[in-house]
Amino acid sequence: MSNFVTVCKIDEIPVGEARMFVIEGTPVGVFHIDDHFYALHNECPHAGASLAHGSIDGDVVSCRIHHWRFCLRDGTYLDQDQPKWNAQTIPVRVVGDEVQLEF
Ligand code: FES
Repeated sequence: MSNFVTVCKIDEIPVGEARMFVIEGTPVGVFHIDDHFYALHNECPHAGASLAHGSIDGDVVSCRIHHWRFCLRDGTYLDQDQPKWNAQTIPVRVVGDEVQLEF
């Protein structure tokens, strides 16, 4: 059974920005792109930097340390065809003015 947890209000993350939250002990990055919110496990698959503190360009986040790029929609590592380096996504839904993540 799904368990959605409210992490913030929609207006707490401006479009084109991200915030980091800790949900049940897990750091997650929540990204607001256009009219959608996306969430990734916040630790970069490469060496653990905070993806929420990376650079956002469209639906891509670039890690601030070594600049690996990940698709916010599905976590795909975009610099090489190496699925083992994909970021892990977390389902997001918006209910009213609340952003909720499935845990
Ligand atoms: S820690 Fe993110 S690219 Fe190296």
